[in-house]
Amino acid sequence: MHSLLPHNTFGIDVSAARFVEYASVPELKGLIAQGSITTPFLHIGGGSNLLFTADYDGLVLHSRIGGIELTDETADKVTLRVGAGVVWDDFVRHCVEQGYYGVENLSLIPGEVGAAAVQNIGAYGVEVKDVITAVETVNIRGKERVYLREECEYAYRHSLFKRAENKDTFISYVSFRLGKHPVYRLEYGAVRQELEHYPEVSLPVVRQAIIDIRRRKLPDPAEWGNAGSFFMNPVVPRAQWEALQAEYPDMPHYDLGDGRVKIPAGWLIERSGWKGRSLGPAAVYDKQALVLINLGGAKGSDIVALSDAVRAAVRQKFDIDIRPEVNII
Ligand code: EPU
Repeated sequence: MHSLLPHNTFGIDVSAARFVEYASVPELKGLIAQGSITTPFLHIGGGSNLLFTADYDGLVLHSRIGGIELTDETADKVTLRVGAGVVWDDFVRHCVEQGYYGVENLSLIPGEVGAAAVQNIGAYGVEVKDVITAVETVNIRGKERVYLREECEYAYRHSLFKRAENKDTFISYVSFRLGKHPVYRLEYGAVRQELEHYPEVSLPVVRQAIIDIRRRKLPDPAEWGNAGSFFMNPVVPRAQWEALQAEYPDMPHYDLGDGRVKIPAGWLIERSGWKGRSLGPAAVYDKQALVLINLGGAKGSDIVALSDAVRAAVRQKFDIDIRPEVNII
């Protein structure tokens, strides 16, 4: 048995029957050829978006493919090819140091590059799909395939790689197209406010501002086990939103422009009375209700029990079903 405690930021004490890491595509293909990739298997990244509810009776796979390689450069843009096992924020720091624009708003998001491309991480007006050009993969039969961005079915916290039938496709490298000239994405009020503390805007300043906002709002997994936003922000038809809006005029919202409106789950949870409340060893974080935390020694089932209670409360009050964003295993 192999402990998964260092591989999940929720801090759930479970084990896997087998655990295998690989550091290159040839090494992965070698493992496949010699029959070492047995089913069932689960490919993980940094474990920052996972909730284990039991020991995993199978093989847990993890990529340690590293490297940040410049594969194309023009006067205005660069393309970087990055190993799936690179820590996401190490990549962001590298880009900021080199003066490459496009990922700074995604500073301090936990996890690794491969998983970032699977779940289309996003924050402060930027999603990783905005800068991805191609995703290289190897499947369980050792077949390689490159997916262009357009083929990846990117949407809010979604991609082709999240679908159940693609669980046997492993990301090896992700290519990003980034700018060499200043273009900032500052439409988020919280970001603009934070930047008022600085004499001028620059790439390192934007990174620092994002880091400071996140540190204030989101719990450090070293202190409280968590997986960031536990729920996705729900999207409702405009008519439903109008009815809610009449009753709750202060409800924040984001009009998607296609007849649908996105509502912050954090606000719904707060208004349902769950912000800061606990159920056994699990709690709703008191500074951001979208985040569930492990108060210490929680089992996956304790977190799920809290999640169910929060969902039921939101459903009862608003008739909206908020769905977990975290992968529950
Ligand atoms: N809000 C509340 N109460 C709360 C939390 C939020 O009323 O407890 C309200 C805020 O006042 C604001 C609105 O909800 O009006 C939105 O809040 P915030 O800007 O904090 O963002 P979010 O929608 O709650 C999303 C992402 C985060 C990302 C932030 C910033 C999802 C599921 N979450 O949260 O992503 O960092 O925007 O862009 O889309 C993650 O995925 O793990 C994550 C942390």
